[in-house]
Amino acid sequence: MPGSSPVTPDFGDQPRLAGSLSELAKGMHLSGILRTAQQVRELKAKGTPVLDFSLGDFSPKYFPIPAKLLSGIVKALESGATNYPPPPGLLSLRQAVSDYVERCSGVRYPIESVLITCGGRPVIYGAYLTVVARGDTVVYSVPSWQNDSYAWLSGAKAIEVEAKSENGFQPTLSEIAPHLKNARLLCLCSPGNPTGTAMEPQAFKEILEAVVDENRRREKLGGERPLFLLYDQIYSSIRVNDNKHRYALALVPASAPYVMTMDGASKAFSATGLRVGWLLAPPAIIAKAGELLSHVGAWAPHAEQAGMTELLKDEAAIAEYRTSMDNAVHKRLGALYQGFAAMREEGLPVDALCPDGAIYVSLQLKLRGKKIGGEVIADNEAIRSLVLKETGIAIVPFQAFGLTQETGWFRLSIGAVSMEEIAEVFPRLRSLLAKISS
Ligand SMILES: Cc1ncc(COP(=O)(O)O)c(C=O)c1O
Repeated sequence: MPGSSPVTPDFGDQPRLAGSLSELAKGMHLSGILRTAQQVRELKAKGTPVLDFSLGDFSPKYFPIPAKLLSGIVKALESGATNYPPPPGLLSLRQAVSDYVERCSGVRYPIESVLITCGGRPVIYGAYLTVVARGDTVVYSVPSWQNDSYAWLSGAKAIEVEAKSENGFQPTLSEIAPHLKNARLLCLCSPGNPTGTAMEPQAFKEILEAVVDENRRREKLGGERPLFLLYDQIYSSIRVNDNKHRYALALVPASAPYVMTMDGASKAFSATGLRVGWLLAPPAIIAKAGELLSHVGAWAPHAEQAGMTELLKDEAAIAEYRTSMDNAVHKRLGALYQGFAAMREEGLPVDALCPDGAIYVSLQLKLRGKKIGGEVIADNEAIRSLVLKETGIAIVPFQAFGLTQETGWFRLSIGAVSMEEIAEVFPRLRSLLAKISS
């Protein structure tokens, strides 16, 4: 009531309430990336300058969305695109995605095999829930992005395969093969988060063929449900160095009944906040995933869908945007990687992986067991907080992506930094390393 004092809710004992929630909710954990982000926010709020390499996002200052996308959204809003879109997505956008995919890959997906969602996350969630039954086995490699959470949400038994740095932390067929016989879902991501490395086309082809073979075996036996593959290619449009990326169906057409491909505008067009993603999959999966996600309300906003349609239809606008965005990504990744490679050449205890794409550089700081100020550096988390405290550089340990080995690997994201900030990294790290003893 106007004039009277507002009601301040007394929510009671919050830790007790938290302990009484569903097992599903209690089993979720705060992503290690968000934990770092929280600390960065706290430091910034105190006025401490931070070189923020922690978030897999873009600063609109350095990575604006395509002008065509912006004008398309504004036009759509002004012309009244403020109501519900059809749950599977605007027909015009599904058609535009299908055309775009054909131009990129030579694969023509029919409209009924394209589902539009509110960014990439609902695609992953919907794909998991559509094919994975409680107790089914899901196989994925670590480090990888949030498969642990989606496996938990779907009640799956997760098999995590630790990928090797010498393979760019991408899994190989020989590492995955022993687990396929009992699996319902295999998840791959290329170019990868956190690594920025891509699967070699031949290695990917071998895995796809193994998925097809496993399904042929099941069909012969009769009765057993298929093995599916969820292929996360959200970073595939960004082109740096050799373009190793291949669409699954371009490599192995026979994999079509089993492959669910996720992609979207978030990373391709620096449009993380606009929320447009798509799933390419067999029509039976699209129909059920669409129905399932309609209950979550996970469709992309109507105006964003209309704007994306305009953009995807305009080949010249896309080509122009690719040139400028890819250039900006390439320059940043290159400068970061070259700087670390130079430190490695000097014999400093660092290593780095040359990125194939995405927006990440993998950095290894071989500091575990060494000392600073008489204190032993125990693990990756200790290295992370030391680097943040001493140099103001925010990085994310691979433990946030499920890696258990304490081998000193970190992800650096270039989406929110300038070239000047990248140049700042090397003197700061060098001065930290000078303070560290064996
Ligand atoms: C590998 C990977 N897949 C999927 C996503 C989800 O993308 P979106 O922002 O479109 O939900 C991300 C986001 O960071 C990602 O890194």
